Amino acid sequence: MTPEEQIRQLTKEINQHNYNYYVLNQPTISDYDFDQLMSQLQTLELFYPQFADPNSPTQRVGSDLTQTFQAVEHKYPMLSLANTYNEQDVRDFYSRVSEGLGGEPFEICAEMKYDGLSISLTYVDGRLQKAVTRGDGVRGDDVTANVRTIRSIPLVLNEGTGYPREFEIRGEILMPWSSFDKLNQERAEREEPLFANPRNAASGTLKSQNSKVVAQRGLDAYLYYLLLDDMPADACHYEMLQQAATWGFKISQGMKKCQSVDDVLAFINYWDTERKNLPVATDGIVLKVNSVRQQKHLGYTAKSPRWAIAYKFKTERACTRLNEVTYQVGRTGAITPVANMDPVLLAGTIVKRASLHNADVISQLDLHLGDMVYVEKGGEIIPKVVGVDTIQRTEGMQKVEFIKTCPECGTPLVRFEGEAAHFCPNDTACPPQIKGRIEHFISRKAMNIDSLGPETVDDYYQRGLIHDVADLYLLTVQDICGANTGRIKSAQKVVDGVRKTLSVPFERVVFAIGIRFVGETTAKLIARHFKTMEALRHATLEELMSVDGVGQVIAESVIKYFANPINASIVNRLATYGVQMQLSAEQLSDRSDKLAGKSIVISGVFALHSRDEYKSMIENNGGKNVGSISKKTSFILAGDNIGPSKLEKAQSLGIPLVSEQEFLAMIEQEEK
Ligand code: IVH
Repeated sequence: MTPEEQIRQLTKEINQHNYNYYVLNQPTISDYDFDQLMSQLQTLELFYPQFADPNSPTQRVGSDLTQTFQAVEHKYPMLSLANTYNEQDVRDFYSRVSEGLGGEPFEICAEMKYDGLSISLTYVDGRLQKAVTRGDGVRGDDVTANVRTIRSIPLVLNEGTGYPREFEIRGEILMPWSSFDKLNQERAEREEPLFANPRNAASGTLKSQNSKVVAQRGLDAYLYYLLLDDMPADACHYEMLQQAATWGFKISQGMKKCQSVDDVLAFINYWDTERKNLPVATDGIVLKVNSVRQQKHLGYTAKSPRWAIAYKFKTERACTRLNEVTYQVGRTGAITPVANMDPVLLAGTIVKRASLHNADVISQLDLHLGDMVYVEKGGEIIPKVVGVDTIQRTEGMQKVEFIKTCPECGTPLVRFEGEAAHFCPNDTACPPQIKGRIEHFISRKAMNIDSLGPETVDDYYQRGLIHDVADLYLLTVQDICGANTGRIKSAQKVVDGVRKTLSVPFERVVFAIGIRFVGETTAKLIARHFKTMEALRHATLEELMSVDGVGQVIAESVIKYFANPINASIVNRLATYGVQMQLSAEQLSDRSDKLAGKSIVISGVFALHSRDEYKSMIENNGGKNVGSISKKTSFILAGDNIGPSKLEKAQSLGIPLVSEQEFLAMIEQEEK
């Protein structure tokens, strides 16, 4: 096979596997085998860029290049749907359609209303050509590069399935609940503001300037509307979408053709509860006249089609009295205002507290103490105050003013530019922040003291046993027990747990000391770079920013941390108690057994390290550098311009090619 043929063949194979995995949910090969195919294709494309294709599955990983989006005019405007909220509205719609069609029989297709952002995809000759957001309905943003990374959107359609030469298909881009929870968890760890719901997260992601970020966020897409220039006279929406499914699209789940208004209402009723089990957010049901001929006959109003309507599920809402606004101080010092209200029944639970998010939300609501407020439980788990019944407001009620000082320690609050939240800047002496830092220090990914938990930390803090993380190392069984001898066993466990942390590697110590914005990965990067706490402590802004993955915000935060004498003293004490303050001897000598038992061929021209350096890296990590490719070769460390005969031999023996970056990641070495 010529390289061009190989590229084509691999592309086809990978596309089929992507479809099996992301659309059908039925993978037929292991993730490992899939990665092997992908890596073969990547290498071939690298060597033969003339045969690489913008719709290649390798493009799904995105690129670091930033992009500004171009506004593009829609071929057919993207209209919205009229909303309805109750059974009578649905019955009225049904009658209007029936009348409009002069009593002719008709079918209604009922389907989920997905709560994401709409997208219009254009395909020409079976290939994705363009992806455009709704924008103002007439013009939208061209987000093709980002959309290419969404695995359930086919880049190339299934061959021989009879798709039209050119068409547009519309649908919704969504962030599944599972990706949303994971993303917010990661953001919480990095102390970044959380997304309020999956729709905001999906929209923020799709508008990202960096398609690599999009690729990592796990977006999904359901398609629900097909547009063609020359529709067959007897075309029907439901049937066309079933067809589109065979071309490779993920279509709306649980679509149903209804023959009567009772069928429609039964469908709505069923999904009102069942939708809670779907992997993505939905906020209603869309009803569409199935026959395209009948759709045309009914036509459009200025804003929306007469042949379709959206029924919105009721978000449960209650009205109750606001008694007080209290303020919580988080572990990072972020202040959250909380509405305390008369207890009220909402979606099956009694609610008496609701989040008010931040100062802007309070002033937008123009809240007064004693107001009757509306509380909703939407896609978010915590109920929120969404409005005020101002008619019930009486004179003399006091306006809610956001606090100026920390409710826990009295320090004046600050608000950083561009951030919605207020912060208490007293991070070394404000009680919830101190406890938060200790909880972070003992957490699993940090020092991992599992015999201690938040309640114990709170207890020790209240009893004056600990004021900072270094105090943990002074704890004795006697102190912990006090007069209570029943506690000896658990106290001993705590003391043992603390002692065990003396062998926790340096990079986790860097994470554990709780420098703002320094998450697990950044901690690893800076630990590897600076090697000792002493070097890190004295690092300049420029030195810090020279570490790949460290930007100005992180660098400034590191400097600020060590400039605070309280932090500096805690770190000194940790060192005295024996906590690891530098990389291990093994790490310092770059030795490991990560490549034990592996025979590795080095081939090609390298950009990051010399061939000799790679040779010693292989040896230092327990691997063997061999000269020629054989069945026993584990992989080829491949640079640019590998000879075609070598490449062919590797392919025929099925030996994977590993790029410089992949190799360095394998042994976790920094690039120079
Ligand atoms: S059909 C002309 N079907 O709801 C009809 N829209 O207000 C085109 N949506 O902007 C839309 N699920 O973003 C249709 N199954 C579905 C839908 C759906 C969600 C969104 C779409 C549209 C909005 C209508």
